[in-house]
Amino acid sequence: MSTSELSATDLASDVCELPQARGPVTESLFKALVRSPGSMSDAVADQLFVDCPLFGEDTPLALYSLYELHYRGFLNVAEGWEWDSNCLELRRNLERAFIRQLRHEVKTLYGSVTVAPDDVVQALRELMTSAGPSLSTFMSVDGTPQHMREFGIHRSPYQGKEADPHTWAIPRLKGQSKAALVLIQFGEYGDGQTSKMHAELFSDALEAMGLERRCGAHLDAVPGASLSAVNLVSLFGLHRRWRGALIGHLALFEMCAVDLMSHQVDAMRRLGMDGAIPFYEAHVASDVAHERIALNEMVGGLLVDEPSLSDDVVFGARALDLIERKFAERLLSAWSVGESSLRRCEQQSPRDFQASAMTPMFFLT
Ligand SMILES: [Fe+2]
Ligand SMILES: [Fe+2]
Repeated sequence: MSTSELSATDLASDVCELPQARGPVTESLFKALVRSPGSMSDAVADQLFVDCPLFGEDTPLALYSLYELHYRGFLNVAEGWEWDSNCLELRRNLERAFIRQLRHEVKTLYGSVTVAPDDVVQALRELMTSAGPSLSTFMSVDGTPQHMREFGIHRSPYQGKEADPHTWAIPRLKGQSKAALVLIQFGEYGDGQTSKMHAELFSDALEAMGLERRCGAHLDAVPGASLSAVNLVSLFGLHRRWRGALIGHLALFEMCAVDLMSHQVDAMRRLGMDGAIPFYEAHVASDVAHERIALNEMVGGLLVDEPSLSDDVVFGARALDLIERKFAERLLSAWSVGESSLRRCEQQSPRDFQASAMTPMFFLT
């Protein structure tokens, strides 16, 4: 179904259709999802994966799509699929492959994780200051409108559900760490004002850049490696066993946000994309406080209650740092030779590139 065939209700709902398949796993999964729940064969759930669970295309998209059933879902996919046993079996197999690869990558880059509870904050600070190539610095100085739009499209699967994966940790914590997480999330959800919710501000930013405001509408253009950034936090969020990693992930996110978002504000201002600025400015305004709350109360409180989670907290932060390093390297490498960092997308929405000042963008694999 193309965007032009969607009804006004569909567009207003913010829920999008299934993306295009990228290989055998997504092909068989998507064929099943448009049928009735319960009709998926065991063979779909138990099939072998053909590419890298972190940096491939078919496997990350399959996992992303299964996680999406726990968020807003897809148009024409019945809600009953969320807890379908074969869906869960396929998701479990994909998660095992994802975690296996993630552990390998983290160990290769940082060595084995063993950090005492008292050393966790220092380990997080070291990650913050030893960041890889700075995408946001590049954007603030040399970024073009096309780079900004590509960046927005890469981020859209996460920003459309910004804060939601971390919210899953709330019932899994107690005391000070729980209260701190709720305080951070309250800010992410706009202090109770819909128009200030960060996910809403991001949709406003997409629109201001001349892009379709529904985040799911860009899925076909987003590479699997960028979807893995969302899969990472969804996996940590959906499993109580990974609550420590989820808290480490959020803490590093908050610690890095002010600098990153300040650079984006500079870039948007330099390029005259003023309508996109409120999203980035909202983070500059709130994340100084969020960083302090995240470190002192959320991480600190968690490690008082559950000191055995110290390695997991650092693992979650290292996993985020790893994914973001690879993300920055990939985008900067494509842009350095004048190529797009997005996937080829044959059926892009006509609204996607309607901004008059924009150079036509061609999606490259
Ligand atoms: Fe935010
Ligand atoms: Fe924040």
